[in-house]
Amino acid sequence: MENIVRLNLQAAVPFVSDSEMEQSLEKAFNSFDILTDRSGRGNDFLGWTDLPSKTDNSVFNDIYDIVNRWERDVEIVVVIGIGGSYLGAKAAIDSLSHSFTTHLGKSDGPSIVYAGQNLSEEYLSELLELLEERSFACVVISKSGTTTEPAVAFRLIKQMLEQKYGKKEARRRIVAVTDNFQGALKGLANQEGYSTFVIPDDVGGRYSVLTPVGLLPVALAGFDIRSIIDGAIEMERICAQRSEKNPAIIYATIRNALYSKDKKIEILVNYNPKLQYFAEWWKQLFGESEGKEEKGIFPASVNNTTDLHSMGQYIQEGERTIFETVISVARANRSLSIVDDPNNLDGLNFLSGKSLDECNKMAELGTRIAHIDGGVPNIQIEIPSINEYNLGALFYFFEFACGISAYMIDINPFDQPGVEDYKINMFALLGKPGYEAKARELRGRFQ
Ligand code: PA5
Repeated sequence: MENIVRLNLQAAVPFVSDSEMEQSLEKAFNSFDILTDRSGRGNDFLGWTDLPSKTDNSVFNDIYDIVNRWERDVEIVVVIGIGGSYLGAKAAIDSLSHSFTTHLGKSDGPSIVYAGQNLSEEYLSELLELLEERSFACVVISKSGTTTEPAVAFRLIKQMLEQKYGKKEARRRIVAVTDNFQGALKGLANQEGYSTFVIPDDVGGRYSVLTPVGLLPVALAGFDIRSIIDGAIEMERICAQRSEKNPAIIYATIRNALYSKDKKIEILVNYNPKLQYFAEWWKQLFGESEGKEEKGIFPASVNNTTDLHSMGQYIQEGERTIFETVISVARANRSLSIVDDPNNLDGLNFLSGKSLDECNKMAELGTRIAHIDGGVPNIQIEIPSINEYNLGALFYFFEFACGISAYMIDINPFDQPGVEDYKINMFALLGKPGYEAKARELRGRFQ
């Protein structure tokens, strides 16, 4: 079988010495041991490590029951969630979808839109305006069930569903994905009799893409979730090896070796706009897992060649604190060649007959070489093509590498204590009972 994730460090290792690489590799093996023998901080959140191989048929059957339930009469499914309850589904659906799917008119299944990932009045008002006109259903996803953004969006969407279809039919059009025991959403779902899916207790938000959090929206969008899980199972097998053949160990090794050389920013680079949200998912995974205790590589991303015309200058010549990780896709899923122009006024006839993908690949190679020459180390992660199987593998690969990486800098990868601070301030400023003293303190600071 071809390698699903092929790592090329040729353009990164010259930036660290052999002994620095060796030290980092030793640390990576230690962290691999901490992760796999479950002895590290946050070890009650390791359910994702063997989740793919434990996914049984009942998960797929329950998901396809919902797909079938809505297949005939639902045009739009609103997926409500934020952070780990949003980015994985959006990453997979965008990667797999036709770029102009919304302009193509009705396809076989419903189209997916998102809510609860921001508090913009315009965004939600415009979404409600659209839903007035269309037959819709909703999947509300929140592990805690208490996150403000999705809870606010769900209030409005639930009300609209009930007004439009009546309570009984609204119940058929609402599915909740949440924690099994606690949380307001679980209570509400039980009370109202919604169909529910459980997010396992030991799987945190940003590690939940391979649970119904990601799988249900992706199946509703018409993609093959069995294949996603098959790819993840294969990667689970590969990542379980305590060996230098394990790409997660090697990726964690090189990024931490670079970090110790003051390369503090990692830019995930893609050359296909379909992967833009994959990068957003990756940024959350690494940012929220590693950015603690005044440590951690800052995760950023660019979408090339678009961003070569905006961020390319900085990457080439700005502060030398960055390194790049390029997701390189070996084969495009389409083919399109550049046509000959007898007048050749743009002087581009030397490209006639070449595929666009070849041009893209040469832009990628040329940029790589220019950036290395400019002092930017470059890690290449090649996948064979964009499809469900390879995406499932890539999700799992990065999750596993992130677990190892965070333990290498002695960080708990599975909590997010810093996310609470803004919430406390927001609640105080909005007048939540019990937060009066905090509100006074905050208002006193900006008068
Ligand atoms: O990774 C995480 O845990 C977070 O990003 C959460 O997914 C996010 O805050 C949403 O939380 P919840 O699913 O509880 O609404």
